[in-house]
Amino acid sequence: MVKNATVFECTACGARYPRPLGKCGACGAWGSIEELKGTLRRSLDRAGSAFGTRHFQGPVPLPSVEVEENPRAATGLEELDRVLGGGVVPGMVVLLGGEPGIGKSTLLLQWAARAVGLVLYASGEESERQIKLRAQRLGAENPQIHLLAETDVREILAAAEHLKPSLLMVDSIQTLFDPDFESSAGSVSQVRGCAQLLARWAKATGTPLVLVGHVTKDGSLAGPKVLEHLVDTVLAFEGDRHHHHRLLRALKNRFGAAFELGVFAMTERGLVPAEGNPFFLDAEARPGCAATVVLNGTRPVVVEIQALVASAGLGIPRRTALGIDGQRLAMLCAVAERRGGVQLHDRDVYVNVAGGLEVEDPSADLAVIAALASSATGRILAEKTLFLGEVGLTGEVRPVAQLPLRLQEGARLGFVSAAIPAAGLEGRPALPCHAERSVERLRAKAWLRERSEEE
Ligand code: TYD
Ligand code: MG
Repeated sequence: MVKNATVFECTACGARYPRPLGKCGACGAWGSIEELKGTLRRSLDRAGSAFGTRHFQGPVPLPSVEVEENPRAATGLEELDRVLGGGVVPGMVVLLGGEPGIGKSTLLLQWAARAVGLVLYASGEESERQIKLRAQRLGAENPQIHLLAETDVREILAAAEHLKPSLLMVDSIQTLFDPDFESSAGSVSQVRGCAQLLARWAKATGTPLVLVGHVTKDGSLAGPKVLEHLVDTVLAFEGDRHHHHRLLRALKNRFGAAFELGVFAMTERGLVPAEGNPFFLDAEARPGCAATVVLNGTRPVVVEIQALVASAGLGIPRRTALGIDGQRLAMLCAVAERRGGVQLHDRDVYVNVAGGLEVEDPSADLAVIAALASSATGRILAEKTLFLGEVGLTGEVRPVAQLPLRLQEGARLGFVSAAIPAAGLEGRPALPCHAERSVERLRAKAWLRERSEEE
């Protein structure tokens, strides 16, 4: 490879080219491609040698690859451990992303407080004093925590070399810069360069590393592609700042199941595991509410789907979806009308998932249709009943994955029956179940009750 050849990089997405181009072929941005000065390349090469990346040994036969037991160190925060797949592994690089104010620094400090051994907590966002005040408030004053308010990645690495911590935390990767790179802090090449240096150090020394990453308005991490490839685990911290609960989700995990979900509540004393289930409002049954169980990784979560069907004004009726995909809602409305006999064509439809969870699992389809039917007719659904099943265009109810696990969770939360797909259940279910072949039964109003009947 010619070391000093000129390289051009897209400042928007980080794609590299041997020539300057007007438009980036990877992300489509215009005028975003700039020449990378030679120093970046030299500096990356140097980083490789300085932090002892393995000597090149040539290919190794598979059987002779040595596999050490991956000892997992639990973090002591139960919900976090669940999302990490049981704890941290030596040299594991974790990226914690989330919107400003969601609680990333709080989680970091609580994690640091429970860690065994020295922790180096480097912050480019807050002063040592600010962090200490927060630690006091959280009761997280672990004397093993060492604070460093610094934005120069070389200084952080020098401090880490000196301190030899058993956990390195950096808040946040976007505030760091490497004096050897010519672009400004927060640019794609700085973010990547700094993350690469830190990750190499983590791998070479077997030290777990946690990087905090900011999320842009559209929900993606700044320099997303570059960071996601560099790290082992991507955790997304979500939730509505106006609600107490916060969701921690593993978007990628080389050491465990992806899409695992942790649920915290934000209190005056920091983050605590959420009590009960924030996604199911266990109130009196009302028309338009249906319960279902969605899977997040291995975690079954009971959620309440709420629908409101109201008469539309003039023009095209509205279909508004919060927490489920809008296209899917449009399809389910059509299926409910044609196959389930629920009149919707001249009505506005609003569907919301209680508690702010994003539901991607199609097994919630049947519950959406049941909620629509319930709201349209003003009747309530059979009480304490779950609705599980993916619904196709012909109105058929299709099997869902891990049905027994979902029913178990429902039974645990006090549900007494479930409408499930006709196919797919083996063995004895945890709840009395009614197998449904299609949404036709809704026309027969089998699941709908007059409110007075209940009273
Ligand atoms: P923070 O961890 O600073 O968010 P981030 O690092 O993601 O920007 O947390 C910010 C919010 O959390 C802030 O609005 C106050 C709130 N908070 C609590 O409610 N209780 C607490 O104990 C702490 C430390 C913060
Ligand atoms: Mg912060």
